[in-house]
Amino acid sequence: MILVTSGKGGSGTTTITANLGVVLANSGARVLICDMNIGLRNDDIYLGMENRVLFDLGDYIGDVCSLEKTIIESDSCDGLFLLPCPQCKSVAGLNSQKLAMLFSVLKNSYDYILVDCPVTIGRFLEYIAEDADTALLVTTLDYLSVRNTDAVNRRLDEIGLEDRYFVINKVTENALKREPSLESISQTMDIPLAGILSYDEDIDFANNDGTPIVQLGSSYYIKTFIEIATRIVA
Ligand SMILES: Nc1ncnc2c1ncn2[C@@H]1O[C@H](COP(=O)(O)OP(=O)(O)OP(=O)(O)O)[C@@H](O)[C@H]1O
Ligand SMILES: [Mg+2]
Repeated sequence: MILVTSGKGGSGTTTITANLGVVLANSGARVLICDMNIGLRNDDIYLGMENRVLFDLGDYIGDVCSLEKTIIESDSCDGLFLLPCPQCKSVAGLNSQKLAMLFSVLKNSYDYILVDCPVTIGRFLEYIAEDADTALLVTTLDYLSVRNTDAVNRRLDEIGLEDRYFVINKVTENALKREPSLESISQTMDIPLAGILSYDEDIDFANNDGTPIVQLGSSYYIKTFIEIATRIVA
């Protein structure tokens, strides 16, 4: 179970979750993407499943339907599944015990669970981190993103989630000429760097079309995401 998060909204957590989900599923694994951005659903759009969401995590927790009914199987990527969260609603009664039960059931059915986690250092992060095996932190080259992603990294360390990696997203040539440098970001984070992803409009277009960039057949992005996956699941 891999927790994907950041210290700043818009850094690319959902993009990276969706693309990693596809490459892991393409390696033959059963992969579940679990959208935990409760109230502000993400992953259904990037995975092209927006029109297929009937039930969500809130319906399962509220005993409206079974867990199976909430999970959607991708029709464009074998082995990839999505557990959507509610849109414009919270999940009443979602506590650490309920999450632990949910994840223990899911761990029996999937090889990998990628949890797309909102930006927080609060109790919700703690609940998810308790069950996670690995964390992937996403930062951009913005100083604010680096500083706050480092804060989340430290929080995860305190909670006891030891297996942590980070990705630098939206890298441009111009940004690389300014501070913070890649070296200083690596020093600040002080955990292994799983990969670097450049800023590319095609990634944004692919997300908005509901087809993660790795599904468009670009060998460069397939290689980049396979390398990230290999570093964090090895
Ligand atoms: N490498 C990239 N190149 C270009 N655009 C990108 C890249 N990564 C992400 N984006 C775009 O940046 C925006 C934010 O990305 P994304 O939704 O993945 O971030 P997030 O961290 O999940 O955001 P949120 O905090 O809203 O959940 C989106 O419009 C996405 O398409
Ligand atoms: Mg997101």
